[in-house]
Amino acid sequence: MGRLTRRSVLGGIAGLGSAAAWPNSVLPATAARKKTPYGIAVELGPFRKDPLYRAALIKYADILVPMNALKWGQLRYDKARFDFSGADEIIEFAKRHGKTIRGHNLLWYNYNPKWVDAITTARDAEKVLVEHIERVVDRYRGTISSWDVVNEVLAHNPLEQGRWRKGVWFSNLGARQMEIAFAAAARTDPAAQLVINDYDLENIGPRFDARREAILQIIRNLQDQNIPVHGVGFQAHLYPEREIDQPGMAAFLQKLQQLGIKILVTELDVIDWKLSRNLIKRDIGTASITAEFLRAIYSQGPIDSISTWGITDRYSWISDVFKRKDGAPNRPLPLDRNYQPKPMFDIIEKYRESN
Ligand code: G3I
Repeated sequence: MGRLTRRSVLGGIAGLGSAAAWPNSVLPATAARKKTPYGIAVELGPFRKDPLYRAALIKYADILVPMNALKWGQLRYDKARFDFSGADEIIEFAKRHGKTIRGHNLLWYNYNPKWVDAITTARDAEKVLVEHIERVVDRYRGTISSWDVVNEVLAHNPLEQGRWRKGVWFSNLGARQMEIAFAAAARTDPAAQLVINDYDLENIGPRFDARREAILQIIRNLQDQNIPVHGVGFQAHLYPEREIDQPGMAAFLQKLQQLGIKILVTELDVIDWKLSRNLIKRDIGTASITAEFLRAIYSQGPIDSISTWGITDRYSWISDVFKRKDGAPNRPLPLDRNYQPKPMFDIIEKYRESN
């Protein structure tokens, strides 16, 4: 199956809301099983000030994921106390509206408070990390059913930079950072789904091969030590100019399945900075790369959940980090700035139905 054509996607746009307008060749067969649960990462700023944002969360999400409120930078900016206020706002809302909750994240090299980045011994690092995980996972035991335990532990390019991402946890604990984090999370909430989350796992080339291989090695290593790990989170910040590695993904997913590992899409969005300024072409490009990615990720059967990193083009990190040269606003997410579904929305729906 090739990429979507302009004509086929124009058909899709004309029949927006009815994915029937998409050509059969790009869509999966619909099965009678339950749709894949759909999650949305929630940003506190818009959550507080924009009622339309809250309405979209209620309308579309099965799962809510606090985007930043559970990160160390927000929970632990003050060494003397934990500040759960932001996370609790989102979590109370999720409970009130019958949504399940994913937790993001317990260990990351980035967005840590200064006092954490200043840790210089393995003993202190382990103590602080374990205390944090025990306290946070325990607080939300029975409420947060799935955790991104470690986030982005792979080096951007493992072929050139060594396997692991440098940062406070790695520099003090080495690869033990993963063992410590997963073991502490599992001890504290044995029922929670524990996930290793990372980006750049889906494309063609030696860097991506190396990243996939490193994930497999982490999982095998944890399993060899009887430390629970249940899922791999594909962040899926997709670049339309990069091709999805369909056979590479199929082989990777098969190996993960053999290891008993579930597949999650955790942060889907499209980095549209190099796509046409023309909105129709741009939305075709965004929907097309989403379809190519979902074709790969569903190729070995149902997946556990699919979350997008936000819901509306009005609020996205991509507008800060990947500004377009022509100054046009980015369009990375399933709903446009006025909360209207785009073709990307239809594609996600159709794949969810195929689960
Ligand atoms: O809280 C302040 C607010 O008071 C202030 O008005 C505002 C002005 O810019 O900044 C706010 O903090 C920002 C925060 O997002 C909330 O919007 C931080 O500066 C900013 O660094 C932070 O960025 C987040 C980033 O992770 C770092 O934590 C992005 O929203 C978030 O989308 C991004 O998410 C990451 C995932 O966790 C991991 N994978 C990649 C993904 C995208 O970078």
